[in-house]
Amino acid sequence: MLQHKGTKSIETIRLILRRFEEWDTKDMFMNWASDPEVCQYLSWGPHQDITVTRKRILDWARSYKNNTTYIWAIYLKAGKKVIGSISVELSNESQKSCEVGYCIGKEYWSRGIMTEALLAVMHYLFYEVGYERVQAKHDVLNIASGRVMQKAGMRFEKIQYHVGIRRDGSLYDCAVYVKNITDD
Ligand SMILES: CC(C)(COP(=O)(O)OP(=O)(O)OC[C@H]1O[C@@H](n2cnc3c(N)ncnc32)[C@H](O)[C@@H]1OP(=O)(O)O)[C@@H](O)C(=O)NCCC(=O)NCCS
Repeated sequence: MLQHKGTKSIETIRLILRRFEEWDTKDMFMNWASDPEVCQYLSWGPHQDITVTRKRILDWARSYKNNTTYIWAIYLKAGKKVIGSISVELSNESQKSCEVGYCIGKEYWSRGIMTEALLAVMHYLFYEVGYERVQAKHDVLNIASGRVMQKAGMRFEKIQYHVGIRRDGSLYDCAVYVKNITDD
């Protein structure tokens, strides 16, 4: 049985991973949610209006009452701002497995921030919640995301062909990475 604990705060060297609050709306809109480049390989498109971002955060805030919800805001201690998110997007209770997804603002790319966040989240999911397998997948063109998975010690498992349609209409394939608790 998984021991769900919900979205509890996790501190790393540079980050605090914590619940989203309504006052994070401006940071989220400005730092990543309105940026088409950040959204290039994501299922959702850039927010055209800050009210969309606010609604998304309020929905997440409501979902925290459910202790199976894992959606962290990535708060950069040095910058004193929220720069991205990392979450559990799918969970399979009987197999004790889950899938994580993440994004951060362009200004913060290539500083090892998401690798730091992903390592901390996987540790929490394995040792606090009891998951035994964490999966992540990325559009094969999204090389940076694959690097994050590799640097966090995940193992390439397979390519899933023609998983979906990008917002530009093209078909895409996904690379699937996995980490088992026994790999740690
Ligand atoms: C993918 C993403 C989360 C990476 O976050 P990050 O904090 O920049 O990640 P890290 O700095 O830990 O690692 C990124 C790695 O990719 C590399 N990289 C970045 N852009 C690259 C590119 N175009 N081609 C190849 N490698 C690239 C970086 O050099 C770094 O590798 P290194 O440490 O070996 O040099 C971030 O770019 C992002 O939020 N993108 C938009 C949203 C998104 O795509 N989310 C993932 C969906 S699957």
